[in-house]
Amino acid sequence: MSPRPPALPPGTPAGEILRAGLEGAGGPVALACSFSLEDVVVLHMLTTLAAAPRVFALDTGRLPEETYEIAETVRARYGVEVRWYFPEREAVERLETDKGLFSFRDSVEDRRECCRIRKVEPLGRALAGLAGWITGLRREQSVTRTAVEPIEVDLAHGGIWKINPLAEWTWDEVEAYAKQHGVPVHKLHRAGYPSIGCAPCTRAVRPGEHPRAGRWWWEDPQHKECGLHVAAEPARPGRN
Ligand code: ADX
Ligand code: SF4
Repeated sequence: MSPRPPALPPGTPAGEILRAGLEGAGGPVALACSFSLEDVVVLHMLTTLAAAPRVFALDTGRLPEETYEIAETVRARYGVEVRWYFPEREAVERLETDKGLFSFRDSVEDRRECCRIRKVEPLGRALAGLAGWITGLRREQSVTRTAVEPIEVDLAHGGIWKINPLAEWTWDEVEAYAKQHGVPVHKLHRAGYPSIGCAPCTRAVRPGEHPRAGRWWWEDPQHKECGLHVAAEPARPGRN
């Protein structure tokens, strides 16, 4: 079990949250990078704080081509090594053979099964040996994320720290930071995708739609989590 996280007051700058996470987790900490703008912004901050930041990405096998493109842009731009994790070959082969290539459209349970195989299991391997992981989660993103804290204890992953430096940020703040620092932008953001996941489970949103309306658009909002982010214990006393 990692040490108890500090109770950071609301409004703590993202860089300070990141630093507190890196210095306090008690061991190695890595960024989970999907290459959406939030994550590249955090990566940018991370490169100012750590000489050789740890970064990993989950290649579900169904990512959009544009995600691979920006991954290479980011790798070249920041000179970081991105550690890629694939799903277990046998589990994918079984899923595709038994249920076809679009089973995730059949039911919420089928969708969760695909996410479990392609994202959640590889995440477990990526987190092995870490004292903490960093995400680009923001409260504003979803009804399922309103309680996200800057540093949490991730009970779903053995009590390691989960560091969410952008928890309190709005999308406008993310964009402004990216512009100010010349952070590379995923092409799909410019094509109407505020939130980007696997290609068959993500579409562009129409003006006025919720930013995550394009993720698993056939499901109700309260189901729209793939299992990477299970409610964690907040660091701040009295907020549970
Ligand atoms: S998801 O759970 O709905 O897929 P979302 O796309 O909003 O998550 O991303 C939230 C955070 O999860 C990202 O900021 C990132 O830290 C992590 N994440 C999501 N997808 C990946 C991925 N393919 N590889 C690494 N990290 C990811
Ligand atoms: Fe499967 Fe879609 Fe989940 Fe990707 S987002 S792992 S394709 S169900």
